[in-house]
Amino acid sequence: MTDQWWKQAVVYQIYPRSFADADGDGVGDLRGIIGHLDYLAGLGVDVLWLSPIYPSPQDDNGYDISDYQNVEPLFGSLETFDELLAGVHERGLKLVMDLVVNHSSDEHPWFVESRSSIDNPKRDWYWWRPARAGMEPGTPGAEPTNWGSAFGGPAWEYDEKTGAYYLHLFSKKQPDLNWENPEVREAVYAMMRWWLDRGVDGFRMDVINMISKDPALPDGKLPTGRAYADGSASYIDGPRIHEFLHEMHGEVFQGRTSLLTVGEMPGVTVDEAIRYTDPVREEVDMVFQFDHVWADRGPDPWLLMPLQLTMLKAIFGRWQAGLAEVGWNSLYWNNHDQPRVVSRFGDDGAYRVESAKMLGTVLHLHRGTPYVYQGEELGMTNAPFRSIEDFRDIEALGQYADAVTKEGRSPEEVLTVLRANGRDNARTPMQWDASPQAGFTTGTPWLAVNPNHTEINAAAAVADPNSVYHHYRKLAELRHTEPAVVAGDFTMLLPNDERLYAFTRRLDRTELLVIGNFSAETVRAEIDDAAAWAAAELVLTNTAAPSDELTLGPWQAVVYRRVLSW
Ligand code: NOJ
Repeated sequence: MTDQWWKQAVVYQIYPRSFADADGDGVGDLRGIIGHLDYLAGLGVDVLWLSPIYPSPQDDNGYDISDYQNVEPLFGSLETFDELLAGVHERGLKLVMDLVVNHSSDEHPWFVESRSSIDNPKRDWYWWRPARAGMEPGTPGAEPTNWGSAFGGPAWEYDEKTGAYYLHLFSKKQPDLNWENPEVREAVYAMMRWWLDRGVDGFRMDVINMISKDPALPDGKLPTGRAYADGSASYIDGPRIHEFLHEMHGEVFQGRTSLLTVGEMPGVTVDEAIRYTDPVREEVDMVFQFDHVWADRGPDPWLLMPLQLTMLKAIFGRWQAGLAEVGWNSLYWNNHDQPRVVSRFGDDGAYRVESAKMLGTVLHLHRGTPYVYQGEELGMTNAPFRSIEDFRDIEALGQYADAVTKEGRSPEEVLTVLRANGRDNARTPMQWDASPQAGFTTGTPWLAVNPNHTEINAAAAVADPNSVYHHYRKLAELRHTEPAVVAGDFTMLLPNDERLYAFTRRLDRTELLVIGNFSAETVRAEIDDAAAWAAAELVLTNTAAPSDELTLGPWQAVVYRRVLSW
């Protein structure tokens, strides 16, 4: 067994822009994070993952990097970073950096060189292609493929200087790096070693299963009514992906210990995830997959779908079974790309506190490494966006433009979906206290603070022993103290129940029973052995103990433990 400390760890994600602003410019910064390290240590998490803090034009809030080896002045400096890292380590925590190397910024010197002429030595560091055969370069439809970009519009940008197009799966300010070129790979590995030598404890790798593309770049199938096709068959888990990640492991991680590597992998299958995370193959420690957060998304992005609990359970069940013997998964409800889970799968009204705790309990008791996204531990909710002017996210703005102007949808229809699903829901400033800007900034925040901060905030939550915060603290503590949470087998119960999420975990003689009520009704759990379980030790609940054996109140969660005699 290699050094797999991260199986017992809880990761906390910080989105620096929205966490804490120490200098009053309305944007969070490193000094702001330093000021809250004791809060994070108090929550009992083990690892902090920082969303990108590198110099960036901020087209996609830092996921467009123009210098991989420095700190964005908005956030601080390398000196402040070193201070932050020391503060993290002093508290016994670890710090994981975001690694965004599927693409750079178009303002990165590599791309500036690449676009300067067709014979520049860095020309081949990005994906350049001529216009579609027989078409006039730069005219609509002349793009080399029919792929859409994630943020609306085509995935290709015409560059007049050299009369060619470059590929950008995300914004046109995020050109895709060409990993086929060994010089690109060497430059990335050298940069990663530089951060590890500085003391960081690993990397969260942004869309890392997209770095290997089929060099033929074929057209995708165009869905009816949509402006662009999905090209992902050519770049998700592409032809050389395992080779690249194994090479990275050898070049960067070999001989270093106690690190964490997690690959963000949209569209990854269970079988591929096993390959990515089988320790023998030396690629990454764990995947960060998306199937469960796509459970309430259908083929039409502009149609809101209610959650079907049975479908969510089937997805989790499939992943738990698939990685039972080999491989490791991340567990998350929230991150900076997802709406707030209490608004999405819980009840952000009358049962906000109960449902936030229930959702945390169910998630953290699975097998895998749990991730807490800033504010999730407070039960922060989606934001009340009024019009498109209230949004800042490039994805929301781009999708709105495509849907309204190119696809002829009504603005209100599109807004309804963005209000529910938009990424800015996760990015409203962290709610520290009840003061006018929630204690986030003394200036004007870059994205409006949620008005409910007067009630939902860290100061109130830390002071209240029954808060969501203290429940999340107990969840981290349980993972640290109960080996069955980390290593127990997983068995799904009641797969056809639309209200209860129930499962057991078993390690040697210890067995845990976890049940979460995803409804506001009182529901009895019809499981085998109910009477015996009801008499077992109640390790954790979010309300009073169930009154009648396993009858759960609205949004209740229970964790029971028993020790079996052989
Ligand atoms: C995934 C990141 O989580 C998201 O925020 C970003 O927009 C894209 N990758 C592009 O880097």
